[in-house]
Amino acid sequence: MNVLVLFIHIVCACFWVGGMLFMVFVSSPYIRKAPFKDEAFQNIGKNFSRLGTLGALPILLTTGLLNMHFLNVPYKSLIHPTDLYQKTLMMKFHTFVLVLLISLIHDFYFGEKAQQSPKYAKITRVLGIINLILSVMIVFFASLLRYGM
Ligand code: HEM
Repeated sequence: MNVLVLFIHIVCACFWVGGMLFMVFVSSPYIRKAPFKDEAFQNIGKNFSRLGTLGALPILLTTGLLNMHFLNVPYKSLIHPTDLYQKTLMMKFHTFVLVLLISLIHDFYFGEKAQQSPKYAKITRVLGIINLILSVMIVFFASLLRYGM
């Protein structure tokens, strides 16, 4: 069971981080120059929001908490860590909460208004890049955890 939970956790991590890397470096540079850019950004954005923000992120939180259970890491350590491993996990968790909040603002506020004004489109883009950087940081924290740091 613990292996299955970690497997689901890592697959969702691949979907979330890989999806954002693909959009920022592969699809968006092309779509930005295309005549159908607004429609494409809205549709791809809505799809990734449905599967990523409302799908992968809640699953990552649930399987992350289950990982802690299987590894006997106390939940209170997410607020009061007592060693280096718990400190890293706390930073990972807090960065995750930030990613979740930014995703909700990105998807359901600025993203909705992006078609109406270049200013909102710019803010949406910047929030997307900030979220990518934070999510890559989470993977770095996960790598530290692998070695008990
Ligand atoms: C965007 C969100 C997240 C990403 C991309 C992510 C990524 C990962 C990855 C790649 C691993 C495998 C590391 C390894 O075993 O080599 C991992 C393990 C783990 N994750 Fe996450 N994770 C995320 C959110 C969370 C959250 C919210 C929690 C806690 C509530 C969490 C808790 C854990 C734990 C406890 C492990 C096992 C660490 C160990 O092997 O000691 N993760 N995570």
